[in-house]
Amino acid sequence: MRTLVVYSSRTGNTKKVADAIYEVMPEGSKIAPVKDDPSFEDYDFVALGFWVDKGLPDKKAQEYIRMIKGKKVGLFMTLGADPDSEHANDCMKRAEVMVRSDNDLIGHFISQGKVAPKLIKMFEKLPPDHPHSLTPERVALHERASTHPDQEDLRNAGDAFKDMLAKM
Ligand SMILES: Cc1cc2nc3c(=O)[nH]c(=O)nc-3n(C[C@H](O)[C@H](O)[C@H](O)COP(=O)(O)O)c2cc1C
Repeated sequence: MRTLVVYSSRTGNTKKVADAIYEVMPEGSKIAPVKDDPSFEDYDFVALGFWVDKGLPDKKAQEYIRMIKGKKVGLFMTLGADPDSEHANDCMKRAEVMVRSDNDLIGHFISQGKVAPKLIKMFEKLPPDHPHSLTPERVALHERASTHPDQEDLRNAGDAFKDMLAKM
C-alpha cells in the first residue's frame, strides 16, 4: 500500500505530524508539501494534513483536498484548540465534506499545535468583547498548545495511521 503523505504547514506543526506519519508508512511511500502539488495518481492511500485557519482547512490544503479522486484518504490536522473540543470536531467535519464522494475516507487524526507568537501578540490588542481577546481561558489554552505537537502526539499520529493501513 504505497502512501502519499501530503501536508500544508505554515509554522511547522503540521509538518512534524506529517513526518511522524511518513516514518511508519511502507516502503515506496512519499512525503511532499502541498505547495509542490505532488501527483497522487501512483499512490493507493493519500494522507492529507492541514492546519486550521479560522475554522477551516488552510486554503492550500483545501485546494488539494478537492482535487483528490478515487483514492483511500486519511486526514490529519493541527489547531490551537483542544483536539477533543467541539471546535476541533467541527473543523475536521468541514474538511471531511470537502473530500470528494468518489474517495474512500478511512479515518482522521487531530493534534493540538502551538499558536504563532505573532498571532498571540495580535490577540493582545483586541477589545475584550472580541471572541479572540485574551481572556484567562484563552491564555491557558495558548499555554496548553505551546508544547504541541509533542512526542506523544507524534506517536499517536503514527499509530492512528498504522491502524488505518491495517483496516484497508
Ligand atoms: C491565521 C490563523 C488562523 C487560525 N485559526 C485557528 C482556528 O480557527 N482555530 C484554532 O483552533 N486554531 C487556529 N489557528 C492556529 C493554528 O491552526 C495552529 O497553530 C496550527 O497548529 C498551525 O499549524 P502549522 O504550524 O502547521 O502552520 C490559526 C492560526 C493562524 C495563523
